[in-house]
Amino acid sequence: MNIGVLVSGGGTNLQAILDACDSGIIKSGKVVTVVSSKDGVYALERAAKRGINSVVIRRKDYDEPALFDKAIADHMKSMNVELIVMAGFLSVVGTDLIKEYPNKIINIHPSLIPSFCGKGFYGLKVHEAALEYGVKVTGATVHFVNEIPDGGKIILQKAVEIQDGDTPQTLQKRVMEEAEWKILPKAVEMICSGQI
Ligand code: GRF
Repeated sequence: MNIGVLVSGGGTNLQAILDACDSGIIKSGKVVTVVSSKDGVYALERAAKRGINSVVIRRKDYDEPALFDKAIADHMKSMNVELIVMAGFLSVVGTDLIKEYPNKIINIHPSLIPSFCGKGFYGLKVHEAALEYGVKVTGATVHFVNEIPDGGKIILQKAVEIQDGDTPQTLQKRVMEEAEWKILPKAVEMICSGQI
């Protein structure tokens, strides 16, 4: 399957997908384009280093959210993308894109959904909320994307224990290393191979 990855930042989850393509964890799909919602992010360099097509599509350049969605959908279609992976994409995608790719858009979220998810829960805020609540276990979730933020059907989850002295930063790093970079490539292969 041709994969299009949506990014907004450092792109370590994109890197995990690319590495999984090299190592054979992902053998039924390949990344054909990377779309960033921001200029100058490191994820774009990761794509360039591999000679992968990339483009910047910024919400602020469009008068309406629907036109932003259409721009992403048009680009993905022009690249023959069959699966869209949101890997740290900070803009919300709307119905116009979701309708074009039913059950073919997935997202990685850095908590065990339904905890610490939905509107306003992104980046470090998720880990701050987990520490503030005092949970002993957190983790990451890969899920299908529908109209409800972080509300689509869950594909994979992995738990990560919270340690004494964790800060939002140390927790974010461990959740990425122990959970996100493992379950995202795995979920991609499950979809590309037709297992789900
Ligand atoms: C990750 O924590 C991901 O779960 C969240 O945004 C972060 C992106 O990091 N949605 P990166 O750009 O993949 O390094």
